Amino acid sequence: MIEITDLHFSYNMHAENDTPILTGINLNIQSGESVAIMGANGSGKTTFARCLNGLLIPTNGSVKIAGLETTQPDNLRQIRRKIGMVFQNPENQIVSTTVEREIAFGLENLGLDYEEMHAIVEQTLKRFDLSKYREHPPHLLSGGEMQRLAVASIVAMSPEIIIFDEPTSLLDPAHCNMIVKLILELQQEKTEPPLTTIFITQFPYEALYFNRLLVFHQGRIYLDGSPADIFLKRDELCKIGLEVPIEFEINDYLLKLSQGQVSLNPSEFLPIR
Ligand SMILES: Nc1ncnc2c1ncn2[C@@H]1O[C@H](COP(=O)(O)OP(=O)(O)OP(=O)(O)O)[C@@H](O)[C@H]1O
Ligand SMILES: [Mg+2]
Repeated sequence: MIEITDLHFSYNMHAENDTPILTGINLNIQSGESVAIMGANGSGKTTFARCLNGLLIPTNGSVKIAGLETTQPDNLRQIRRKIGMVFQNPENQIVSTTVEREIAFGLENLGLDYEEMHAIVEQTLKRFDLSKYREHPPHLLSGGEMQRLAVASIVAMSPEIIIFDEPTSLLDPAHCNMIVKLILELQQEKTEPPLTTIFITQFPYEALYFNRLLVFHQGRIYLDGSPADIFLKRDELCKIGLEVPIEFEINDYLLKLSQGQVSLNPSEFLPIR
């Protein structure tokens, strides 16, 4: 469903001191997969996400969504119908004057009739714990409420693929859980066609719930596998500035202890990096 071949991307391709941001990504994502992406700041996650929905066009290589190349301008309308994108900064995404209208906005563009649209708006407000703010202007919401609205308005449109760019960065722990749980529920509910999710996060615990984890480093895919397999490579992740969930940290420490690589010294346990 998503086929990426030798993807390169530069923001300033013609500048003398240009530094390429994506430097050769090869990747296939099947319909129905749930994929988490982690990587240090500046490793190219957002740039990659923008290449997927054709907001950025590869400088070399290709991105195909359901067989449609993003380099063909005629394909972009169809690609953007298939892919919903929750942007890293919710303020850049929100355009309407009330919370309710923001959720209805995308649905109007899909040409739904009033009854259907009304039912989806109501269900979405409830699901995302936003009913009490329905009449609020979005710019008066807190950062976390705005982030929930940004996710809600994309989910309401039921795209085949949803890219979430750090959708929980401003949320409190309860709402982080709510968003991840909701995504997993949607994935189970939506089977025809199946929902594909790409979830960029800085939180290793969130990545654990996805079927596949991609770790980005300097514009390339550094690791690709199940989250559990990847988190067992604690030292490799630490080297590029990432953390593993505490259970994997303890597992790694105990393993090293049993192999005599560390001593039972409280100052060595969970060392501050
Ligand atoms: N519009 C732009 N013009 C020039 N350089 C850019 C632009 N947007 C991003 N970059 C650069 O591209 C690199 C990758 O940025 P990107 O936003 O893709 O990283 P990221 O992995 O999403 O980081 P973060 O974790 O901070 O969100 C960074 O070094 C950034 O400075
Ligand atoms: Mg980013």
